[in-house]
Amino acid sequence: MNTDERAFTSHGVSSRTLAERDAAHVWHPYTQMKTRPAPLGIVRGEGVYLYTEDGRRLLDGTSSWWVNIHGHSHPVLNEALARQARELEHVIFANCTHRPGVELAERLVDVLPHGLTRVFYSDNGSTAVEVALKMASQFWSNRGEVRRTFITLHHAYHGDTVGAMSASETSVFTRPFDAMLFGVVRAEAPYCYRCPLGLTRETCNVACLGDEPDAASSRAEAWTRTLAQQLERHGTDVAAVLVEPMLQGAGGMIVWPAEFLAGVRRLCDAHGVLMIADEVLTGFGRTGRLFACEHAGVSPDIICLSKAVTGGYLPLGVTVTTESIYAAFLSDDRTRTFFHGHSFTGNPLACALAVASLDLIRDTDAVAKVQQIESWLRRGLQPLVDHPSVGEVRVLGGVGIVELVVDKTTRSAGGYLDTVGPALSQAFLDCGLLLRPLGNVVYALPPYVITEAETAWMTAQMADVIDRVTSR
Ligand SMILES: Cc1ncc(COP(=O)(O)O)c(C=O)c1O
Repeated sequence: MNTDERAFTSHGVSSRTLAERDAAHVWHPYTQMKTRPAPLGIVRGEGVYLYTEDGRRLLDGTSSWWVNIHGHSHPVLNEALARQARELEHVIFANCTHRPGVELAERLVDVLPHGLTRVFYSDNGSTAVEVALKMASQFWSNRGEVRRTFITLHHAYHGDTVGAMSASETSVFTRPFDAMLFGVVRAEAPYCYRCPLGLTRETCNVACLGDEPDAASSRAEAWTRTLAQQLERHGTDVAAVLVEPMLQGAGGMIVWPAEFLAGVRRLCDAHGVLMIADEVLTGFGRTGRLFACEHAGVSPDIICLSKAVTGGYLPLGVTVTTESIYAAFLSDDRTRTFFHGHSFTGNPLACALAVASLDLIRDTDAVAKVQQIESWLRRGLQPLVDHPSVGEVRVLGGVGIVELVVDKTTRSAGGYLDTVGPALSQAFLDCGLLLRPLGNVVYALPPYVITEAETAWMTAQMADVIDRVTSR
């Protein structure tokens, strides 16, 4: 950049667009900066809409990376943030505490599945998972046992820090970092459209859990990778089983039968290992229950929360566990301390927003609203099953998913790097809808304040764009 230009931008006044200025210095996540289209300059948000610097209005169909639930720039949340900023913006959380941090812990314990009573704060979804993995590992070592194995599921996505990446499915997201990652044991997930055992949901009795020997399919190799078989094989070396309950997100928006989730809890109990539920995506109503674990009436030993916890305003990670796990860290021996923390642990602004968001969830009956959205999404998307490029339509709570295939008989599909993804994104944008397909998996999960008419408009655009782009 030359001196004139620097002077120009340092005054914050420029005739260039945000996209042009961005191109000079900014590096975006998950973005091939050489070939990307120019980013959208967003100047304002209100409700389900975002407004661009060139005057367009876009419906935020993915809740700004799955975080927003009450709509953009909500007056109640704006006021909560301003009020807290006037009082206390941040303080070290190692030897200090504050009202929003305490209040949020109390409020979460009230609404979380039974038994989750100890709240540990961090910064984002990946760190919430990282904390859970470290907590589980040290829990065993504080009890005098070394347990090295974590079991995670195929198609999992748990975040981008090293532990969270290790726990995630090997994919385009993790391969460049292979050398940094630790090994985990993987078990089959209940991806019913592509059943690992080659069974059908109507008659399978969730055999993919692997705990009913006579249900073994002809796919003997997959059978050996079922959760029950992996637990059997790795025995007392297993520290914990980590799952995304009911909805595996970035790995393909895979919706589970609730029986599988119940089975995970049952198997963890039977083998005496911890169950960690990563509810970073599913928490706070997204699946039509306040927490996805409620679909199966189970309580994990550790739960990971983030994204919508602050209503989508500020980053906050929360890892909550039981009194018995917490007790393993209490000792006169200081080496048993949980040595983990971040500069912004328990940030008061984020905690105050999270409390205000919980109030809004209660006052607006948000979970019931998500159940309504589920019926609107079903109505709009279900007819797409007959389309020649649509393999499956899945709807869970406020998430509507359309999995595209190249061939309906073989179910072949291009995966995350399928060029259909960017082509669809652009076509959605052209009609005023901001969506970001995961390659061949198109999905929408709008803020809960979306109306019936807006949902009908959104699903109509999805149907139209899918038809136009796939028939090219
Ligand atoms: C289930 C799940 N866990 C963890 C993460 C990581 O969260 P973050 O992006 O805030 O680090 C994500 C992000 O999409 C997620 O979907």
